[in-house]
Amino acid sequence: MEDKFYDEIAQGYDSLHMAEQLQKMTMIIADMGADIPKKNEKLLDVGCGTGISTSVWNCDCTGIDPSEELIEIAQKKQPKKKFLVGQAEELPFPDKSFDVVICITAVHNFKDIKKGLMEMKRVCKDRLVISVLKRSQKLEEIEKLIIINFKIKKIIMEEKDLIFLCGLRQPPGTKHA
Ligand SMILES: C[S@@+](CC[C@H](N)C(=O)[O-])C[C@H]1O[C@@H](n2cnc3c(N)ncnc32)[C@H](O)[C@@H]1O
Repeated sequence: MEDKFYDEIAQGYDSLHMAEQLQKMTMIIADMGADIPKKNEKLLDVGCGTGISTSVWNCDCTGIDPSEELIEIAQKKQPKKKFLVGQAEELPFPDKSFDVVICITAVHNFKDIKKGLMEMKRVCKDRLVISVLKRSQKLEEIEKLIIINFKIKKIIMEEKDLIFLCGLRQPPGTKHA
């Protein structure tokens, strides 16, 4: 994906994609059940775009995206949430700083998919939601990386995306509570 592609389509992004992205979010919330972030929990939205995927949560939300234009739109629409410009491959947060990390229809755009997923794992304390575009040529590679690195709780078959609801794998040798 061209570096400036999303900056160029920023003004029209919501009218093109709002309805389909909100439909994905509705399905995710319906399936998360008790895993939905509580009001006092912290959520990171990686590749948040204009903040559609950030908008549905009633908790402490941060969104990050490399497109300055999209981040400006997101911050204007949701002044109480935090938005910053940055890449999945180098998340500017300490280890385990978010209870929930989500990435909605964005992972196929990462320059280094493995590095981006490892960064999401590093900053996550508990749960992840990764929604992957089914028609992406990188679907198989992404699916393998998710299976190897995360504990999959549920897979949702959405019209355009495969949505993985995940937890963190217990490191080998860790005793269960
Ligand atoms: C289809 S949009 C999805 C945006 C948003 N999650 C939504 O549901 O509307 C894909 C997003 O991935 C972002 N993106 C591209 N490369 C990225 C990277 N290396 N790290 C994080 N996000 C990236 C784009 O800027 C774009 O906002």
